[in-house]
Formats: sequence, C-alpha cells, structure tokens
Amino acid sequence: MIKPIYILNGPNLNRLGKREPKFYGSTTLGEIKNSCNELGQSAGISIVFKQTNLEGELVSWVQEASDAASALIINAAAYTHTSVALLDALQMLEIPSIEVHLSNPAAREAFRQVNYVSPAVKSGVFGFGAIGYDMALTSIIKTLKQAN
Ligand code: DQA
Repeated sequence: MIKPIYILNGPNLNRLGKREPKFYGSTTLGEIKNSCNELGQSAGISIVFKQTNLEGELVSWVQEASDAASALIINAAAYTHTSVALLDALQMLEIPSIEVHLSNPAAREAFRQVNYVSPAVKSGVFGFGAIGYDMALTSIIKTLKQAN
C-alpha cells in the first residue's frame, strides 16, 4: 500500500484564476486539485492537496509529509525565494520531492532567482502552467510504482 502523495501550495495560490493570468494562467487551484485527484485515483494512490498563506503552516505540513506521505510535490510560491525554515524542513525529508512553479522564476525578476527550495528537492517543473502539476505527479507516480 503506497502512502498518499502530498501536494503543498504556498501563499496567493488560492487566487489562481484571477491572479496575474499572464504569468499564472486562468486555471484555478480547485481545478488543479481535481486534475491531481483524478491522476491519483487512476493510479490507486490518494492525494493530500493543501494551500496556505502562512510560512509556519507550510513548514509543519512538510514535517507531516515526512511521516505520512510517500512523496511530496511543492509549489512554495513566494516562500521559495525567502524561507530558510522551509529549506531546513525539506532537507529533513527522506521521500522523493518535486518543486513546481506555474511560471519560470529563473526568467523573471532577480529576486525570484534566489531559490531556497531547489537545493533540497529531487527535481523541478517550471513554466508549464497548471500542466506542471500533472507532469510532476505523473513522474512521481511512475517513480513510486517502480520502487514498490
Ligand atoms: C510561483 C512563482 C513565484 O515566484 C511566485 O511568488 C508565486 C508563484 C509560480 O508558481 O510560478 O507566487 O511559485
């Protein structure tokens, strides 16, 4: 029995659909969640999908994932560029983790090129919009199925 895959989302991602569509597209977080649940269901793996605007809550969920999850997908949003606490939590993880961004932060402002998540994750999907979540989840599911 494969444990759930955690998909964690940071600040302002609850506003997707309305928020700066030129960077983030028009798909809502609810639609992304539905798509992830469908992929999980067809693989027989449950998905825990959460969003918070609070840094400490995101850190606590990463800690929770280390016990409760088989893998982690994270879009830490702005905390990607600021949070040493998040980096420390991710570095404790022993499960595979993937970073997702709707936009490609490396192609944007200089402050978005600072990244405290990338050094602690296995891989990343950047710039594919909402499809990036499906890409990350499909890769993680295949990785888990190969290992189990
Ligand atoms: C983002 C990129 C971040 O730089 C930004 O702060 C976000 C969204 C993305 O998904 O493209 O909130 O993580």
